[in-house]
Amino acid sequence: MALEFSERLGRIPAYPVASGYELPDDVAMLASNESHDPPTPAVVEAVDQVMRGLNRYPDPTGAALREALAERYGVPAAQIALGNGSCDILLSLGESLLDPGSGLVFAWPSFSIYEHLEGASGALTTRVPLDGEDRHDLGAMLEAIVPGTRLAIVCNPNNPTGTAVGFPELQEFVAAVPAETCLVIDEAYCEYSTLDDPDLTIGLLAERENLVLLRTFSKVYGLAGLRVGFGLCGSEEIPAAVNRVRQPFFCSSAAQAAGVEALRHPEAVAQRVTHNMEARSFVMSGLEQLGLAPAASEANFCWVGVPAREGEEPAQAEERVLGELATRGVLVRGGGGLGRAGWLRITFGSELENGRLLEAMAAALD
Ligand SMILES: Cc1ncc(COP(=O)(O)O)c(C=O)c1O
Repeated sequence: MALEFSERLGRIPAYPVASGYELPDDVAMLASNESHDPPTPAVVEAVDQVMRGLNRYPDPTGAALREALAERYGVPAAQIALGNGSCDILLSLGESLLDPGSGLVFAWPSFSIYEHLEGASGALTTRVPLDGEDRHDLGAMLEAIVPGTRLAIVCNPNNPTGTAVGFPELQEFVAAVPAETCLVIDEAYCEYSTLDDPDLTIGLLAERENLVLLRTFSKVYGLAGLRVGFGLCGSEEIPAAVNRVRQPFFCSSAAQAAGVEALRHPEAVAQRVTHNMEARSFVMSGLEQLGLAPAASEANFCWVGVPAREGEEPAQAEERVLGELATRGVLVRGGGGLGRAGWLRITFGSELENGRLLEAMAAALD
């Protein structure tokens, strides 16, 4: 007898996972926007220490990590939500805010997990197209926020396009979003942006109780494998709500300890940012020299269209170039699964990987 799954399950899109985990080590993994710099030895040591106490459950309140975050970011610990990655906070926010028929607004193309919120809740969703430069159109987003909109999400810098809006524009938008709408600014990549000081948005929390700044240890802190993210919130009500809908031990002791230790090493963050800026300028100019026009990236990846050959659909061009790159040991993400066929999202890697990418791309376009 076949199992009968929930109607809700049928509405939830499958997350477009990256391939390549089964491939040999010498493949350039440029498909998941990770940091290619390994964690610092002190972080590895902190995790190692925790391993000796794995018979115990983790602290369900994440007190030490929230205190360390409070000190680093100047936000009261009670206004900080932790998560098994920042996606966990986002999905829990969806669960605590959205009913079938309530309003959800985000830009498109943007981070694929936002579509999950729509399917899981049955919310009425408005996808606001990016502007001509593939940036968030905040004016159009504001118009899309109507009575009944419970959740609006701005991804800044945006995944998959890498584009960002500057602080003055964002500040105006934040002030105009009604207090009844929870506004999430997903800042997973904010440290890589050169537009503004990434911590400027934190000042907005004092004025806006409805605001959540979603951040993660997965990118610039280099801890994607451990799964730990955090939300800096405008009120205590928000962390309390997300904690109610989740299992109690959502953040492992290793993840909590690594987060605390990583915050003690701002120099490692600064080094990753510097490496990324060098890689970004090398890859972007290399792609331009190949005749491509990547969108302006403020992140650790870029978004670029591939030219279709005569008679070829954009999706076919994407598949062809993806295949050519994979044959040469370079894995990037196809745009079709991320909201726009015929485009690629390319994570910046090590010097060696970036060189290999450009060589493979030159051969693929030949
Ligand atoms: C925009 C954005 N937000 C959040 C995340 C998820 O990060 P985490 O690993 O913290 O769940 C990602 C990961 O790729 C992302 O691109």
